[in-house]
Amino acid sequence: MTEIATLRLAADPAGIAAAAAILRRGGLAAFPTETVYGLGADAGSAEAVAGIYAAKGRPRFNPLIAHVPDLDTATGQGAFGPDALALARAFWPGPLTLVVPAAPGCTVSDLARAGLGSVALRVPAHPVARALIAAAGVPVAAPSANRSGRVSPTAADHVLGDLDGRIDAVLDGGSTAVGVESTIVSCLGEPTLLRPGGVTREAIEAVLGRALAAPAAGGPTVAPGMLLSHYAPRAAVRLGVEALRSGEAGLDFGGRFAGRGAPVLDLSPRRDLAEAAANLFGHLRRLDEALAGAGAIAVAPIPEEGLGEAIADRLRRAAAER
Ligand code: TXA
Ligand code: MG
Repeated sequence: MTEIATLRLAADPAGIAAAAAILRRGGLAAFPTETVYGLGADAGSAEAVAGIYAAKGRPRFNPLIAHVPDLDTATGQGAFGPDALALARAFWPGPLTLVVPAAPGCTVSDLARAGLGSVALRVPAHPVARALIAAAGVPVAAPSANRSGRVSPTAADHVLGDLDGRIDAVLDGGSTAVGVESTIVSCLGEPTLLRPGGVTREAIEAVLGRALAAPAAGGPTVAPGMLLSHYAPRAAVRLGVEALRSGEAGLDFGGRFAGRGAPVLDLSPRRDLAEAAANLFGHLRRLDEALAGAGAIAVAPIPEEGLGEAIADRLRRAAAER
C-alpha cells in the first residue's frame, strides 16, 4: 500500500470537520470512542471499507461494527426486536454493540457485513465520535485502529505507532475512558454474549431479566473476528502470577509486585476494575516496549466479575499461542 502522510487532527470543530470530509470522500480517519480508537470509513462504500482491511493488514474480511448517531438511525439499518430495543434504550449511547438482522434499507455495504444477513450496530458515547458520525452523515464502519493482531489503541500515539503513513488522519481526543472494546450481544435469536466488553454481563442480564446465552463453540454465532490469538503484544504473556520470575515485567493489580526491581505497571493499585480496564492496553504496550522482544509479561490475578470478564478475555487472547 502507498505511504500517505497521516494528519494528526485536534479534536475541535475544525479537526472534526476535516475528518468528516475525509470519511465522505472515501478516506480513512481514526477517532476516539469511549472504548478504544476506531479506524473509520464510510460503511456504505465497499471501496472505503476495503481500505480499512488494507491499512490494518487484516488477513480476512471480518465483519465490522457500523457506528451510528442514534437509535432512530440504527432502526433504519437493522431490525430491532423487543430485547434489542430494551438493550439499546438502556445502554446507548455507550459501549454496547448489537448484532441484529439487516433491515431491507440497510446501507452498510456487504463487505462491511462480510456478506452476512446481519449487521453490528453501535451508538458510541464519546462526544468526538458522536460529532464526527453526525458530520459524516453516514454509518461509520470502524474496527479498532491497530495493525491486525496487535493490542487495541487507547491513545492517538498508539494509532500512529501502528498506522502512520497508512491512513489519512487521526483525531486526537486524548486517552479513552473505558479502555476495552464494546460488549457484543447478538440479538438474532436468544440474546447471546459474543464478546465481553465495556458493559458488564450483570448489567445486561438485569435489563433482559434473564441470563445471556453463550455462543455455541465454533458455531456461526461466534463473532468471526474473535480469533484466539488477538490483542497480542510481542512479548510472551503469563497469567495468574503470584510472584515475578527474573526477566519478567509485571502487569500488576492491587500492588502485589511492588518493590521487586523489575519493570512493573499496576492496572489499579486500589483494585478498581474500571480503572484496570482503562489502563489495560496502554500498560501492555508500555511493558512490551520496555522488554523490547525479550522476556515475558507476568500478569497478577484479577477478579473475573463485572468488567473483570472483559479484562480476562483480552488477557487470555494476549497469552494465547501464536
Ligand atoms: O469498542 C469497540 O467495539 C471498537 C470501537 C472502535 O467501536 N470496535 C471494535 O471493532 O472493537 P472490531 O472490528 O475490533 O471488533 C468487531 C467485532 C468483531 O469480532 C466482529 O467479528 C464482530 O464485531 N461482528 C461484526 N459484525 C458482526 C456480525 N454481523 N455478526 C457477528 N459478529 C460481528
Ligand atoms: Mg480489534
